[in-house]
Amino acid sequence: MASITSVRGFKDILPEEMSKWHYVEEIARRVFSHFGVKEIRVPLLEKTELFKRGIGEATDIVEKEMYTFLDRGGDYLTLRPEATASVIRAYLEHHLYAKEPLSKLYTMGPMFRRERPQKGRFRQFHQINVEFLGLSDPRIDSELIFMLIHFLYAVGLKDLTLEINSLGCPLCRPAFRDRLTSFLKDKENALCEDCRRRLGTNPLRIFDCKQEGCRETIAGAPLILDYICDDCDSHFKEVQRNLDALNTPYRVNRQMVRGLDYYTRTAFEVTTSALGAQNAVTGGGRYDGLAKLLGGPDIPGIGFAIGVERLISMLPADENFSNVSPDLFIATLGEKARDFAYGLSNRLRASGLIAEMEFSDKGLKNQMKRANKLGCRYTLIIGENELETGKAPLRHMDGGEQEDVALSSPQDLAAILKAGKTDT
Ligand code: HAM
Repeated sequence: MASITSVRGFKDILPEEMSKWHYVEEIARRVFSHFGVKEIRVPLLEKTELFKRGIGEATDIVEKEMYTFLDRGGDYLTLRPEATASVIRAYLEHHLYAKEPLSKLYTMGPMFRRERPQKGRFRQFHQINVEFLGLSDPRIDSELIFMLIHFLYAVGLKDLTLEINSLGCPLCRPAFRDRLTSFLKDKENALCEDCRRRLGTNPLRIFDCKQEGCRETIAGAPLILDYICDDCDSHFKEVQRNLDALNTPYRVNRQMVRGLDYYTRTAFEVTTSALGAQNAVTGGGRYDGLAKLLGGPDIPGIGFAIGVERLISMLPADENFSNVSPDLFIATLGEKARDFAYGLSNRLRASGLIAEMEFSDKGLKNQMKRANKLGCRYTLIIGENELETGKAPLRHMDGGEQEDVALSSPQDLAAILKAGKTDT
């Protein structure tokens, strides 16, 4: 019978890779707690309408990348392509805004987009997502960005570029959009089919097109920064002033637009040359109209999402990110010894130690090799003889020192193993 494989673009994360995931997640939790950011968990499945309204009908995500299906109950449901719309929905649904003036929330988990899979791009991928909701003060923008950069360096990334731009607001963007559309109108033939369509629906997206003709055409286009209103301009200048004060280097990328429609004012991306074509580790920005658009009060917000697979692919491959290795390996010679070791290893585990044992009848040399490979601190060797005398040699794997320990008391053995423990 043919074997069943995973779905294209959906990846298994194997046990050997998990230490990197735990490492990244632990640093995220620690850094976020220092900045007062609290965890929220939202469902993977939402009503399709949430993303259509939140992300925007004329975005690539909503137009062609969502996993949407008709539920048996007659509702259209979608596997979340991002977390922001869901977090805002939960924030509004549970009236979190009534509890505190500024809510700082983070969530981590899988997102789903039916994109063309390639290096660094998957159909199920993971994000670490942060949202600061409640204030439009530019200090909030720079605090969020500062925390993000601090986190990325804390994880150990290097050669990062922070790019920022302002995308204006509903007061100034329409005039820019008209200006851009009329600039592009008589150059329509030079645009790709997608961008010709975008010209009518979402002309700002043309800045992101990778096609040669579109890139050349857009190179001379008017730029949003030259059209933003005075309020947006002074907001953007304050964000920059604060980033300077926080010693956070950035580059203003006047052509940067983002792939989701909810953005207003500050937008940013962190890229790295280490990633090749899919070089964005993080994207984010302010979305002051989103809460209202989703039916709530007019509450401003800003956030970002980090692509965890991309982040992890930048960590050194050979480094051991796990500090968890077994305290004890029980080498066994004979069936009776295995029986005894079975009880002992499980008792030791229940007392908080990590114990492994040998179930096969492999020779001692082979078993010691396995103990070494597992990185065990100690090995206890049990055979018929040891069971008879009630004493067995406990070998320290580092120095090879050996002492006899009594087998009658798992507590005493546990005490010896715990005494030498430095890694927890
Ligand atoms: P985004 O730019 O669509 O923003 O995604 C953020 C990050 O997720 C990207 O920079 C990338 O690292 C990763 N990513 C996106 N698509 C894929 C994929 N197919 N495979 C692997 N990684 C991917 C958002 O999602 C916004 N919700 C961010 C945000 C939060 N804005 C405000 N708050």
